[in-house]
Amino acid sequence: MKISSTYAVLLMAGVYGVDVREALHTGKNNWEDRTLLPQNNYNGWVNPEDLAPMPQCIAQQNQATWLSAMTKCTSKRCTSHFGAICTHHQWLTQLSCLTIEFSSDIIRSYFPYCGRSILAKAQLYQWNRNITGRTWLIDVGDANGLENLSPASIPKGYADIDVIYNAPTCLTGSVSPLSMEPFQRVIASCGFTSTTQHTGNIARPWEYSESLRSMIALDFETVGYNLVGQHIREGNYFDIDCFCGAFTIDLEKEPCSGSGQLDFTKERLWINATCGSTSLPDNWTDTLKTTQFAYIPMENWHWPMCVADMPKEVIELTDHCATDACELDSTGYCKVKRAVDRACFCHNINYDSCGGSCHTFETRIDYINWLHELCENVENWHGLPDNWRQLAVPTHIDMIPWRWTIKPSVDSEIGRLTRLGYIRATEACAVNEWKIGSFALVNMATFLSAFLSQRTGIQRIARGFLWDSHSWGWFFKGTLIAALQLIANWFNSLFVQTTSDYNEVPVIQLILLWCSMPRLAWLTILLIGLQPFGAMEFSAVASLLFAEMILQSLSSYYMIMTVNYGREHNFYLGAIGNAERGRPGKAMYAGALMWLIIVGMALVQSVRALRKMNRLTGSGSLEPPEWQRDTQTTSKNTEGLKAPLNEYCRKLRKNLTHYWMDWPWVSEETPLISSTGDSMVYGTFSVKGQHHSVCQEAFEKSYAATVISMLLLWLAQWLFWGGFIGLSSEEFCPPKLGVLTAIWITSSLVAAIITVI
Ligand SMILES: *[C@@H]1O[C@H](CO)[C@@H](O)[C@H](O)[C@H]1NC(C)=O
Ligand SMILES: *[C@@H]1O[C@H](CO)[C@@H](O)[C@H](O)[C@H]1NC(C)=O
Repeated sequence: MKISSTYAVLLMAGVYGVDVREALHTGKNNWEDRTLLPQNNYNGWVNPEDLAPMPQCIAQQNQATWLSAMTKCTSKRCTSHFGAICTHHQWLTQLSCLTIEFSSDIIRSYFPYCGRSILAKAQLYQWNRNITGRTWLIDVGDANGLENLSPASIPKGYADIDVIYNAPTCLTGSVSPLSMEPFQRVIASCGFTSTTQHTGNIARPWEYSESLRSMIALDFETVGYNLVGQHIREGNYFDIDCFCGAFTIDLEKEPCSGSGQLDFTKERLWINATCGSTSLPDNWTDTLKTTQFAYIPMENWHWPMCVADMPKEVIELTDHCATDACELDSTGYCKVKRAVDRACFCHNINYDSCGGSCHTFETRIDYINWLHELCENVENWHGLPDNWRQLAVPTHIDMIPWRWTIKPSVDSEIGRLTRLGYIRATEACAVNEWKIGSFALVNMATFLSAFLSQRTGIQRIARGFLWDSHSWGWFFKGTLIAALQLIANWFNSLFVQTTSDYNEVPVIQLILLWCSMPRLAWLTILLIGLQPFGAMEFSAVASLLFAEMILQSLSSYYMIMTVNYGREHNFYLGAIGNAERGRPGKAMYAGALMWLIIVGMALVQSVRALRKMNRLTGSGSLEPPEWQRDTQTTSKNTEGLKAPLNEYCRKLRKNLTHYWMDWPWVSEETPLISSTGDSMVYGTFSVKGQHHSVCQEAFEKSYAATVISMLLLWLAQWLFWGGFIGLSSEEFCPPKLGVLTAIWITSSLVAAIITVI
């Protein structure tokens, strides 16, 4: 006999009567060989051992009535005669007597138990029909359908008997309140095996015991699933419908209500998984100790990124709140797991439990999300600050790529204590419109001064008054213009720093940041370009360009810093999301990126142009070789510039023209500067022949490309500053904006004058 079935046999038979232990040793599992027909029939009397073995459900009950009925029909009979002398006596059972003795009344007394399980009932019916020939059990018709069962006869199916290992002992040791029937007995009454099995002496299921003066059963047959005509995997099962109908729990006093929460959970889960929730109270899931929500299995536990900055007390909470809880297995039964009690953990932690990196930017966002996910649904948990949603996305402070600010350091103690520097002590701060407006004013002043100086012919006056403009040189002039701007920035920075409460503002940083201010240099250059061209103008353009190059290189510090910061924090990949002040933030980062791209393209294009020029001029030197010979034309003023240009033009020819066409925004159809009007363009040039137009075109294009690049840079800078001012708002709060603006305007006026003289 297999070990697996031993349990069932003990379970089923041990409950009542039959001494299975003895039978186990003698029994063999060869029931198939048996035939239910009595082998020796002595005129209606048969050997008891030839009778069909006892059905399972009788064996599991008090068999006294059953045995006495059999005993009544059994007596010592002579089976062998020699004349009138009996030579052999034997205990035999009279079949017709059995038919009478096993009346409906006897069956009725066993029926409440045997009738629970359809399979047990069918087994009893078969025995009954076999012995008595009756086709009903108690009443006519009560056996309808028992002869041809199908799997559908067990409506809720069956379960492997092993599932009772998932039940807590407080449940398996309990009794059903109405019938006072123990759990195990109910299981046994509903149990069956995969195929009918014998649990005793198969060759001798019955015997007459002379000492007991009674028939005794040496074997009984288990109920087999084969009664429904199908095979299932070998094992022991029970009929779910049968069990759930016979075993009830008292909802007022559940079997495990006093055995601790884990057992109580196991019990309810077991009942739910086996019988469904109908036999459980409505809100039975409320108090369960399961890993579905209230408990988190240890292996699923994870810390946020800032775990290193978490205090020991918080780290130890997982041990403090550790407990056993039920994890539901695939069939819904409890599998005990080590877990963290969510409520316990959450009620011991809040946002301020951890400092350091838990409060800075990405690790803060991660920490907030972790905390929110962990504790959000825990009752009465209020561990996140009211503005936690703002903290869960980049704040405007996070989006500013540098850590210094321009604002009065009201009370640095409070400032440090107040989270993320949400200080509202900046009533004196100018509104953002005024900050942007001041830049616009400076731009406007630049434009006006450039425009007026063109119109009023200030350069002629200057030329008259001052020294010969040749002596200036674009290099010197450009440096001077840039220096002017830097001095203005420096002066303004000092001015800010010396204002009371602004002592902590870093001067150099501020000078560099202000270098990235949008300037109208492109428009000035354009205005100059629209004038008749001469050495004077070339010098102005070159000096302005040079100054602009210096200032742009200085502003690259903050532009590159911004782009890099944005890249590090994924701002270019959507990390800003719907953050508060996200739009100005996005504008600022877009502006910086745009600036970088334009500068990059301009650099690449310039390098390529220079290389080309070097190749064209042969030696790699920019010194034109023969320009002296080319001086038969025009005024003294332009001589210094014109001659080398002409020489260049001759050399550059088509190639250069070709070359500038590569600029994405310069096409042949849209020359920025009209070349049709003689008076408009390059009027003082008198380059001869076919060289003239080719060279002129090349210059037009390079000129246009330069102006457009500068225009785009100017736009990028506006975008950057507009975004930055909107983003930083109270963090960027220069005092006395009017004074600062006045100084910038002055410096740009002076710069405009320097440009044209
Ligand atoms: C209760 O049993 C039903 C049906 O078996 C199942 O769908 C449900 O998930 C179970 N509930 C719990 C809390 O285990
Ligand atoms: C739910 O359970 C609580 C006890 O945990 C009980 O007081 C309440 O009456 C129950 N509600 C329902 C609808 O069963």
